[in-house]
Amino acid sequence: KLLANVVAGQEVHQQWGGVIPELASRAHQQQLVPVIDAAMKKAGISVHDLDAVAFTRGPGLLGSLLVGTSFAKALALASGCKLIAVNHMQAHILAHFITDAEERAKPDFPFLCLTVSGGHTQLIRVDDPYAFTVLGETIDDAAGEAFDKTAKILGLPYPGGPLVDKYAQLGDPKAFTFPIARIPGLDFSFSGLKTSFLYTVQNGQKKDVLFAENHRSDLCASMQFAIVQTLMKRLNEAVVQTGITRIALAGGVSANSGLRQELVRQASEKNWTCFIPPFAYCTDNAAMIAMAGHFKFLRGDFAGQDVAPLARYPLSGF
Ligand code: KG4
Ligand code: ZN
Repeated sequence: KLLANVVAGQEVHQQWGGVIPELASRAHQQQLVPVIDAAMKKAGISVHDLDAVAFTRGPGLLGSLLVGTSFAKALALASGCKLIAVNHMQAHILAHFITDAEERAKPDFPFLCLTVSGGHTQLIRVDDPYAFTVLGETIDDAAGEAFDKTAKILGLPYPGGPLVDKYAQLGDPKAFTFPIARIPGLDFSFSGLKTSFLYTVQNGQKKDVLFAENHRSDLCASMQFAIVQTLMKRLNEAVVQTGITRIALAGGVSANSGLRQELVRQASEKNWTCFIPPFAYCTDNAAMIAMAGHFKFLRGDFAGQDVAPLARYPLSGF
């Protein structure tokens, strides 16, 4: 049962329109101890009450991973508890199993999970908390990147996803037409969509210097529509291929209102059962890492002090 989930944001990236790896690792270093301290206080426990400490081994930015890994090792060593290495992408999926004060249905196995974050877009078959099969993934940009780049092109701050979502709610999704990629299998591609968006804005600006501002809501709504359609198309194909109709959303982009609405709409039309985590467990958070750690704890799957972070870490890698 979740006792505390404290999240520190990193505003230092806003002015640059994306995450600067060096600044991210330094911010991790500054914030880690106060954040863990706050979580311990909120939970009403001390380090001596810990049975294990779970940390993100990867995938991600190596500098930030190193900060977390080093800290987790030190904490485990100092408090005499176990150490558990977690795959960040597995944790996004396992966030569905977090138990807190609110009653929520948890997906039965097997289920399909659409994981959409700033770094990843994956369609996964989940057979149990330890068995993940990637059915499709992005061959270029992630869905979150497509949202963030949309915002950047429109001069909006990073991370742009939530802002694009906000403006999209005021706009017309049919105002502009952006292409849905046609690539084989269940993989995704967002780079063509991004280029098409860039050209639309550049061409518009040639005729009207205030084009991006004047059409902001319609541009956001149309782009969001294209991203959501791209994701839903693949999801539908995966349902047909696997016959699985339990669908889960995970990752930062699952906070997107357009994606949530469309999934709920199609689920009721097609008789799927869908599982959408609360906002707090969609974007990166500690509770999901603890949840993944819990499953590894049950299996006695502990890491040694020699464990190293992995910038690239396949979903099925333990
Ligand atoms: O999972 P996450 O917190 O971090 C990664 O592991 O990448 O995902 C962050 C991504 C960012 O690209 C952010 O713009 C996007 O999730 N995001 C959204 C929304 N909220 C966050 N994208 C679209 N609509 C939103 N409401
Ligand atoms: Zn994430």
